[in-house]
Amino acid sequence: MEKEVFVVWEDRYSVGIPSIDAQHKELLVLTNKLYDACRNSEEKAREYFKEVIRSAVEYVQFHFTSEERIMERINFPELGPHKVQHTSFVKQVLEEVQNFEGGKSFVPNTFVRFLRDWILTHIAMSDIKYAEYIQVLKKQGTLQALIK
Ligand SMILES: [Fe+2]
Repeated sequence: MEKEVFVVWEDRYSVGIPSIDAQHKELLVLTNKLYDACRNSEEKAREYFKEVIRSAVEYVQFHFTSEERIMERINFPELGPHKVQHTSFVKQVLEEVQNFEGGKSFVPNTFVRFLRDWILTHIAMSDIKYAEYIQVLKKQGTLQALIK
């Protein structure tokens, strides 16, 4: 099967914080793995998907916690609404995973598209806000410890 990459990292997705960029890149790697899983025969796809999905969910949770710690450290005013976005995304993903594991209606292709679109939109619309806030604090010299 010809190797087709579903979603490719682009520099314009960077929020300017290397650790967060690295985590966002990993999220795209995981999305690509799930996409690859969908391209197999149905039985193989399910098997592979099952292997990847749990670690993907764990990684998403680890990543959100990292972001929330940063936002707490800088007293980011929009932490509350940002957390709500994280929580509802995890809830939605877990519901889909339950549908998948319970054999209910689940369309892997639709799911990976949802993942990709959510991640990229969230970076561009929401993560960029705390990243910009950090830049402002740095310029003001009010950021005590460096956030890498
Ligand atoms: Fe976020």
